[in-house]
Amino acid sequence: MLKLENVSFSYGAIMTLRQVNMIMERNQITCVIGRNGVGKTTLMKNIMGSLRTNSGRIWLEGQDICRLPANKRAKAGVALVPQGRHIFPNLTVEENLRVGLEARTDGKRTIPDEVFDLFPVLKSMSERKGGDLSGGQQQQLAIGRALVGDPKVILLDEPTEGIQPNIIERIGIVLRDLVIKKDVAVVIVEQFLDFVKEFGHRFYIMNRGTVVAQGATPELTEKLITAHLHV
Ligand SMILES: Nc1ncnc2c1ncn2[C@@H]1O[C@H](COP(=O)(O)OP(=O)(O)OP(=O)(O)O)[C@@H](O)[C@H]1O
Ligand SMILES: [Mg+2]
Repeated sequence: MLKLENVSFSYGAIMTLRQVNMIMERNQITCVIGRNGVGKTTLMKNIMGSLRTNSGRIWLEGQDICRLPANKRAKAGVALVPQGRHIFPNLTVEENLRVGLEARTDGKRTIPDEVFDLFPVLKSMSERKGGDLSGGQQQQLAIGRALVGDPKVILLDEPTEGIQPNIIERIGIVLRDLVIKKDVAVVIVEQFLDFVKEFGHRFYIMNRGTVVAQGATPELTEKLITAHLHV
């Protein structure tokens, strides 16, 4: 579904991504893990197009999307649930969800019921202001907003950060069901390894801007964790 080929990026003179190669398959949850500051968020922004890749290719179903601006990538089927969620605090839950409709190409202008089936709290709180929601509710809203656009690839940047365990579990189950029922690829940046082991299918470990290990999640051994993830 999504293929990164030698993706490199620098903030000014500082090389932050170095020749990153990854494949994110449909019907799978691919986890990108690594210590703080290794370039995970930078990578998500390069895929979404809010940062422009210096060299390399990003293929979405065989189309090179590297030169497309973020709004065109959204229309092509890439959705990002950003780190820190970035919901609009002064808009209601329903208005926040409506923002996600912009990415649709079928002209549909109503929020699909599916989103409320997956996250019932968004229905009961649809008139509340986004800023009044708890962290876990905001995260569900941010994921719901991404799903409203009917994406092919859903990127989630640290979705469990600062969220209570029962909501983390709920989010994991929703994403797992989603990759089973729909032909989507889910990509999760995650530092919470229990979540990766429970819900992830494949993993990539990043260190200093590059991929240092990869495999199926059962292959995520203590040795790898000690070498690349412990601080
Ligand atoms: N806008 C920016 N300008 C310059 N350098 C930046 C910018 N944003 C991030 N960096 C640097 O790029 C590197 C990678 O940052 P990035 O946010 O991608 O890491 P991360 O793996 O997502 O970290 P975390 O786990 O803390 O979210 C870091 O050294 C960071 O300081
Ligand atoms: Mg980050």
